[in-house]
Amino acid sequence: MKCRKCGGRAVLELRRHNTAFCAGDFLDFFRHQTLETIRRWKMLSRDEPVLVAVSGGKDSLALWDVLLEAGYTTAGLYIDLGIFDYSRESKARCQAFAAGRDARLIVVSVAEEVGAGIPQVKDVTRRPTCSACGLSKRYIMNRAALDHGFGVVATGHNLDDEAATLLGSTLRWDESSLARQTPVLEATHPKLVRRVKPLFRTSERETAAYAFLRGIDYIVEECPFARGATSITHKEVLNRLEDASPGSKASFLTTSLERARPRFQAAEPVDLRECVRCGQTTTGEVCAFCKLSDQVRRAGEAPSKTHAARCSQTLQT
Ligand code: AMP
Ligand code: FES
Ligand code: ZN
Repeated sequence: MKCRKCGGRAVLELRRHNTAFCAGDFLDFFRHQTLETIRRWKMLSRDEPVLVAVSGGKDSLALWDVLLEAGYTTAGLYIDLGIFDYSRESKARCQAFAAGRDARLIVVSVAEEVGAGIPQVKDVTRRPTCSACGLSKRYIMNRAALDHGFGVVATGHNLDDEAATLLGSTLRWDESSLARQTPVLEATHPKLVRRVKPLFRTSERETAAYAFLRGIDYIVEECPFARGATSITHKEVLNRLEDASPGSKASFLTTSLERARPRFQAAEPVDLRECVRCGQTTTGEVCAFCKLSDQVRRAGEAPSKTHAARCSQTLQT
């Protein structure tokens, strides 16, 4: 198989694009596709500092690498979920990546914010683990961005993640998820920062190839709580469709964004206000993160010093 660009030996075939690349031309293709997505979807402006949420996995580290290479002003944000070896190893990967590039890494620990790490949170709430974890990550990403003066957070969600989320929401006809799922979530409130997903058109296979060819040391293991998750089944089903008909995942996602999302969005107006406890946005009185922290505290875990201090500050002002 030959590289479509230079005629040299290809290392990767991309059936969806009906093409194949050698290592150097694939890296160029990957960078170009990412930067073109950022441009076309108006995700970032050139002089705007961006907080890159890094999990230690291939996608977010590949994204941070592309942004650093392209000259964006960035800092990484690692959220320590307290999930045993998985968190220790993923944090070490992020720290090594940042140190190797002289980049700034901000680390926030869920245990300090909520009063307990995700494994203990799992035991005290009736929410599925991934839902409590996702809620904590979204909250911390937004607050860390505000605290450190960033107007935008970039995450490494890729095409496979996004298509699987869309399939899950569609199977449940979950209208509010369908309205919310977008590569660019604008800041619709002064206490919200913009959230962008520059890899949403890029497959997991492509990000793995990029990270490998760039020599990025990333964590390969999945989170132990992800085992048996329905999102994995949705990814497998989508991979079978993609095998039979290359391009299915991308077209499922993009046609939904173009045609379906605007309708769900129109039907789901969201009235945001500030949480009376912590000041972050919520649709009710008290935000879901404060409620989660309360549950942890009631279950007898140590109250979160950081979060309690912030809440009392907000109440006094
Ligand atoms: P996931 O929800 O694990 O598929 O991750 C999706 C994206 O969320 C990743 O590509 C990261 O950008 C971000 N993310 C996930 N886990 C963390 C974490 N522990 N710290 C910071 N960002 C994270
Ligand atoms: Fe959140 Fe696994 S990363 S539960
Ligand atoms: Zn709150």
